[in-house]
Amino acid sequence: MNDVNSKVDSQRGVEIHDAGVADAPALAELAARTFFEAFAADNNPDDMRAHLESAYTPALHRAEIENPSLDTLLVRIESGPPIAYAQLRAGPVSHGVPGEGSIELWRFYVDKPWQGQGIAHTLMEAAKARARRRGASSLWLGVWERNARAQAFYGKHGFRKVGKHIFVVGSDPQTDDVMLCAL
Ligand SMILES: CC(C)(COP(=O)(O)OP(=O)(O)OC[C@H]1O[C@@H](n2cnc3c(N)ncnc32)[C@H](O)[C@@H]1OP(=O)(O)O)[C@@H](O)C(=O)NCCC(=O)NCCS
Repeated sequence: MNDVNSKVDSQRGVEIHDAGVADAPALAELAARTFFEAFAADNNPDDMRAHLESAYTPALHRAEIENPSLDTLLVRIESGPPIAYAQLRAGPVSHGVPGEGSIELWRFYVDKPWQGQGIAHTLMEAAKARARRRGASSLWLGVWERNARAQAFYGKHGFRKVGKHIFVVGSDPQTDDVMLCAL
């Protein structure tokens, strides 16, 4: 743990790259596990199971990686297994978000041992750079209204609340705050 922390403190060895199809199984495992760890305590187990099965499989992630409307960024330390990921999605926007020139930060997850270590900051900078490279002038996202830590993180990175939308976990319609950041 100490070795790991010292590497991250200096940001040495942190690599961010676009996922390739060979990364789909590792991404599915990381995505399902980080979602579960973040939200299982506050969700009904049946809803959680249904969501994990419908959203995080190697086949789905392979299709996402191959989808030209999506960017999937993976973070590794010295070419080890992925420890964080972000996905950007060009497409329809939520109420309150400009219809033109805005890209969605669809998913943004850091594995628990690496939270609070600056990895999320590095990944956010990479996500913003990717959105700019795609020609976006703003980045938007939906974050559960009860996810205070993520909201604090996004606030530090220039996101402001502009609306709300519904995100369904299994059979449970939950309210997300919609946040927007000018690039
Ligand atoms: C959201 C996430 C990416 C942020 O990364 P991080 O490395 O934890 O970011 P930070 O350490 O900068 O923490 C964010 C801020 O929240 C604060 N915070 C920590 N725990 C908190 C809590 N329980 N409630 C409210 N704020 C909290 C931190 O103090 C920090 O603010 P500060 O820098 O002013 O002290 C990461 O926590 C994560 O992956 N969480 C689980 C998945 C998730 O929620 N993803 C977002 C889905 S929309």
